[in-house]
Amino acid sequence: MSLVELKNLTKTFGGLLAVNDVSFSVEEGSIVGLIGPNGAGKTTVFNLITGNYIPDTGEAIFDGKDVVGMQTHRIVNLGIARTFQTIRLFKSLNALENVLSGCHCRMKSGVFASMFRTPAQRAEEKRVLEKAMSELEFVGLKDQWDTQADSLSYGKQRLLEIARALATEPKFIILDEPAGGMNDQETQELIELIKAIRERGITVLLIEHDMSLVMKICEHLIVLEYGAVIAEGDPETIKNDPRVIEAYLGADDDLL
Ligand SMILES: Nc1ncnc2c1ncn2[C@@H]1O[C@H](COP(=O)(O)OP(=O)(O)OP(=O)(O)O)[C@@H](O)[C@H]1O
Ligand SMILES: [Mg+2]
Repeated sequence: MSLVELKNLTKTFGGLLAVNDVSFSVEEGSIVGLIGPNGAGKTTVFNLITGNYIPDTGEAIFDGKDVVGMQTHRIVNLGIARTFQTIRLFKSLNALENVLSGCHCRMKSGVFASMFRTPAQRAEEKRVLEKAMSELEFVGLKDQWDTQADSLSYGKQRLLEIARALATEPKFIILDEPAGGMNDQETQELIELIKAIRERGITVLLIEHDMSLVMKICEHLIVLEYGAVIAEGDPETIKNDPRVIEAYLGADDDLL
């Protein structure tokens, strides 16, 4: 069953066609990779799913509902979480506080309960703190709960963003270049982490330039070039697709 169905999404910026009639589905419980050369439109597709941008045309169906035009917080409440290509953390807050900001959307206490610190509200605070700590532990940052976000290494900041996204209790997580800035060992650990996220029943869509990572964990790949889908299939098929090989020729990395 498809959890996500993108239908004919198009987005232009001025005269630039950044996303050109893109349609694809993401099966529930899968790990899917969205790949393509720099500027192909990958991040823009993410931004269309998460409500950061509104498409010119098309639909983004999540769990049976079209999320186009919905506010980002409503989309988060529906169960879509994301991380960013350019890390967006509260730099001067510690790791735990950053994850707590993700928990916020699942808190039930109203203003009255918060002002008068009712027993129900105290119980909820405790539950939320435990939840935030458990997400830090899940990504391997439990011991650094008190470290200010911008004192963490780049790789660990990416893990912290993942913990914050998981704290929103998503059904679907989208990761924009999660291995960016990670060393080899961190990348290996990230592979295990992404598998563990899927084990929790969360469907994963990721953009990644590290082809060895993508080939190892994705069961399905979608390739974008100049805003359009040029190929789709399992990693082996994609690796041998002449259009994909051509799209990557001239890229500075030995990607495929
Ligand atoms: N807010 C914006 N305003 C104008 N142009 C934009 C905007 N966002 C993206 N673009 C342009 O749209 C195109 C697609 O950009 P996008 O960031 O989606 O590519 P990408 O595939 O994520 O690339 P990269 O691998 O470099 O991250 C690029 O030409 C980019 O310059
Ligand atoms: Mg991008």
